[in-house]
Amino acid sequence: MKNGSADEHLLADEEESNGAHYKCFLSKRGSKALTPFSPYIQAVNEAKNYQWTPTNPEGYFLMATAESVLSFDLIHDKIRSCREVPATVGLYGDFRGGNRLRKAIAKMMERTFMGVEVSTANVCISSGVTAVLDLFFFATCDAGDGCLIPAPYFPAFDNDMAIRNGVEPIPVQPADTHTYIPTAVEMEEAALAAEKKGINPRVLLITNPGNPLGTLYPESTLKELLVWAVNRGLHVLCDEIYANSKFGPSANEFISMEKVASIAVNENLLSEKTVAQRVHTAYGMSKDFGMSGFRVGCIHTRNKGMQKFWQNMGMFAAVSNDTQHALSIMLEDEEFVDYYVAENNRRLKKSYEIFTSLLRAENVVYMPACAAMFCWLDLRSLLPEPTFEAEDRLWKELKDESRLILTPGRACHYAEPGFFRACYASMPPEHLTVATQRLTAFVERKRRKRKAEYPISV
Ligand SMILES: Cc1ncc(COP(=O)(O)O)c(C=O)c1O
Repeated sequence: MKNGSADEHLLADEEESNGAHYKCFLSKRGSKALTPFSPYIQAVNEAKNYQWTPTNPEGYFLMATAESVLSFDLIHDKIRSCREVPATVGLYGDFRGGNRLRKAIAKMMERTFMGVEVSTANVCISSGVTAVLDLFFFATCDAGDGCLIPAPYFPAFDNDMAIRNGVEPIPVQPADTHTYIPTAVEMEEAALAAEKKGINPRVLLITNPGNPLGTLYPESTLKELLVWAVNRGLHVLCDEIYANSKFGPSANEFISMEKVASIAVNENLLSEKTVAQRVHTAYGMSKDFGMSGFRVGCIHTRNKGMQKFWQNMGMFAAVSNDTQHALSIMLEDEEFVDYYVAENNRRLKKSYEIFTSLLRAENVVYMPACAAMFCWLDLRSLLPEPTFEAEDRLWKELKDESRLILTPGRACHYAEPGFFRACYASMPPEHLTVATQRLTAFVERKRRKRKAEYPISV
């Protein structure tokens, strides 16, 4: 092999205390995929195996993973009662997902959040929204094409679009740093800037409710962005994976992109045919139902080509028939679904209130949320200088001194240093109280230290 070819890639063996390296003989792209999408992921992975409990007080509080443990007791009881194994589950099925689960998910989405009729034919199932995004970008983009995303955004989107498909994420920073709501003008400017660099924007990716902000986009914004994007010939993918997690005072302001699209068609802003080809929604069971380990997600698309593509390519990320069967039974129980969604939102609200009331008591600045499972913390005042290096150091100090792991704003592609995402649903409320006290004590210590160092400016 020639010098620099992929099979020369060296990997440090973490098992070996002498730091041994070995060649792993992977392709260039395989070697590139060895690195996690963001450096903080390494710490998350390590902390997963060493979490805080009352009997392990040295452990970490992991608030950097978008996972909710709050209502799994309800799902666990229910899913066990749905476990039966008919002989048909042992055979290959439809790689868009079996008809029964597609129908159950379509009905659930229609009833609980989409606000439009959802036909089974328009739902394709894969093993999580991660797989849905990977397939979607494969279907809509060529390597080097771009995807516009309002920042700050969910860090793993970079991986989802880039790692296999070579699609370039184009973060769009909103000028309104109070609401973080982007405008079509900002999108157009970002698209033009990307084109100047030779990147062809093909997709607008919106997340609503938002990750990392835990807020909702107003209908007017969604309509403005949708009309702009469709008229520019872009696909619009709305990730609504948190659509059933809404608990704040403005929770009823949620509106799905499909509903917005139907309004835009009624108002003659867009044609029905173009909307059917260009507008797509991703949904999954990982967040609202706390079932990230089951690996189930779906795309709602009326684009016939996309559906045909899924029939073929869905095989690479299919959900086991066994899981599909149990989940179908669970979702067909509408009474359970309604009870679960209401109870889960009650629990999310409780945890959000525990978290934010402790923050307020110590004057820690955060952006009020009403949905999803996150809170966006503004810790800029703790940075000695407004740089990402200072943000990295603060993140590390929080991890090492207080054993608390947050998601840094840099990983969410936010342009200004000093912001962090906290997931308050990743632990039971009793643990959350201890974790939040750790956080506020850390902030207090930092403030005192800064005051001692810079008595006038602080
Ligand atoms: C906005 C968003 N989309 C997609 C995903 C991935 O979900 P899944 O577990 O279905 O792959 C996440 C997970 O954090 C997310 O926050």
